[in-house]
Amino acid sequence: MRDHCPDARTQNHPVAYSRAEQVHIIMPADCNQYFRLFGGKLMEWVDIIAAVVARRHSGMEVTTASVDRLDFLAPAKLNDIVLILGRLVYVGHTSMMVCVDTYVEDSDCDAVTRTLVNRAYVTMVALNKDKKPVSVPCLLLETDEEKADYEIGKARREASRQAPH
Ligand SMILES: CC(C)(COP(=O)(O)OP(=O)(O)OC[C@H]1O[C@@H](n2cnc3c(N)ncnc32)[C@H](O)[C@@H]1OP(=O)(O)O)[C@@H](O)C(=O)NCCC(=O)NCCS
Repeated sequence: MRDHCPDARTQNHPVAYSRAEQVHIIMPADCNQYFRLFGGKLMEWVDIIAAVVARRHSGMEVTTASVDRLDFLAPAKLNDIVLILGRLVYVGHTSMMVCVDTYVEDSDCDAVTRTLVNRAYVTMVALNKDKKPVSVPCLLLETDEEKADYEIGKARREASRQAPH
């Protein structure tokens, strides 16, 4: 399905093509004075995973245009396992919106549980060799969840365009 593709671009990739994940154990150097994960460190990890997703999809160098927005829903603390998942939700002409979800993972003998601690939407722009924005492949939407994500991404993009800077 590529009916969302606004022009004659022929190349497209499914969401799964560019998905990325990172896993960390929170070390003392990652923490603030309360032995909780330092927010700036998480922002760095979020930015990196968004760049990896966007580079995989576009095959180009990318730059961060905006982060809309970072919601710290719960703390992550020293020695926690942190799982960061990035997936494309929306693609424009040269821009790509990546949803990055961060979980704290707990495990005992019986099960692994994941608690969402942060969600961020990062817009990356593909750049050519002259560092100018360049067209990227369309996004193939294969599941109902991906189609719903795409509508959310599109609405966020429209809202951010109308918001005063
Ligand atoms: C992002 C950047 C490349 C856009 O360049 P530009 O010359 O303004 O290009 P355009 O106006 O043609 O915009 C290109 C795309 O970026 C999108 N865009 C630009 N600014 C944006 C913003 N603040 N938020 C979200 N998307 C943005 C546009 O909507 C457009 O998307 P589309 O092609 O999918 O429709 C440029 O502003 C830039 O280099 N910014 C600095 C990036 C940087 O240094 N990041 C690291 C920060 S530490």
